[in-house]
Amino acid sequence: MTNATDSTRQTLAALGVASAEAVAQFFAELRAEFDREAAAASGADDGVKALRDAWMGRKSGVLTRVTDNWLKSAGPELRPAVGKSLNELRGHVEAHIGELQRAGEAAAESTAAARERVDLSLPGVTRPLGSRHLLRQTFADIERIFLSLGFAVVEGPEIETPYYNFEALNIPEHHPARDTMDTFYLDIPRQHSGGPQRLLRTHTSPMQIHTMEKQPAPVRIIVPGKVYRRDNPDATHSYMFHQVEGLAVDTDITFCEFKGTVEYFVREFLGPKIKTRLRPSYFPFTEPSVEIDASCFVCGGSGCRLCKQSGWIELFGAGMVDPAVYGFVNYDARQLSGYAFGLGVDRLSQLKYGIEDVQLFFQNDVRFLRQFP
Ligand code: FA5
Repeated sequence: MTNATDSTRQTLAALGVASAEAVAQFFAELRAEFDREAAAASGADDGVKALRDAWMGRKSGVLTRVTDNWLKSAGPELRPAVGKSLNELRGHVEAHIGELQRAGEAAAESTAAARERVDLSLPGVTRPLGSRHLLRQTFADIERIFLSLGFAVVEGPEIETPYYNFEALNIPEHHPARDTMDTFYLDIPRQHSGGPQRLLRTHTSPMQIHTMEKQPAPVRIIVPGKVYRRDNPDATHSYMFHQVEGLAVDTDITFCEFKGTVEYFVREFLGPKIKTRLRPSYFPFTEPSVEIDASCFVCGGSGCRLCKQSGWIELFGAGMVDPAVYGFVNYDARQLSGYAFGLGVDRLSQLKYGIEDVQLFFQNDVRFLRQFP
């Protein structure tokens, strides 16, 4: 944009401030020149800026120079004409450059808007959502069923003393039942001399004792949680597994209520066609004790690989609370009766979903986890 300055200098030199006509001609030419340069500059951002500097620049813009050279050197008779023409030219230049700037800004805005436009028809970016682990889903299922029967959910410590894990459950030292629960004893300092040893609970049953110690009957609780045993890991055993304990104690709980409750649970958990049977068993803290079996939900009872051709699948242990246990918690065994059960959550989940190896629960393989969204 050097031509504006150069040609203005030439024009100024060629014309003298001699007459009103010369003034009019000079400004007409200057205006025509501005219009040419403005037409060339339109559309380019830096073109408009250069045009503005060349014509409106404070120090050496054309308008400044014309003011300095012409207006100041014009005699008193021509000064009004020069001033008027100069004002008209300034108005024309400012208005035109303003327009070019606004047009440039509008064009830039619409280019940016086009660049940033969101195509709502494009598929979104999907992030994979996690889901609850199958064991958590099984816990939730079990809890839902017992909550609907009026049971409350409570939790308890995983580190226990032999008293709560065994003795208060009628399993004294050297009782053979302790052998079936090979225990992890903790090598941690006792809280005071003669204080109890610590162990990882081998079942959720200690919470029966904690609960009855804390509150009088009636009691209706379930206890979901982790338990630990020194079992050799295989398709149905792991060091750490999960149980849900159940305990109901009141003044008038009968074996019938116990049977009805466990049968209801099995039907709700495995389906309405499932039949149950109670088989005599033994636990030191229940009397009588039973194993609950369900009719095989794969073959319907006719015999298959899952039920080892028996038609029945062993589900969990349970029984009426042994009166000896009430003695440990100051409950009156003559007034109260109740039942307890201990569900192996991993096994129940394996049975319900046909999972051959319990280790799959703990390997966090997404190919396994994704099958249970
Ligand atoms: C008990 O633990 C009793 N406390 C259950 C009970 C409670 C009976 C209240 C009566 C009244 P048992 O040792 O059978 O019982 O274990 C219960 C369940 O835990 C088993 O049926 C089985 O499903 C599961 N289980 C036992 N050991 C393992 C293991 N190593 N890995 C995975 N599951 C196991």
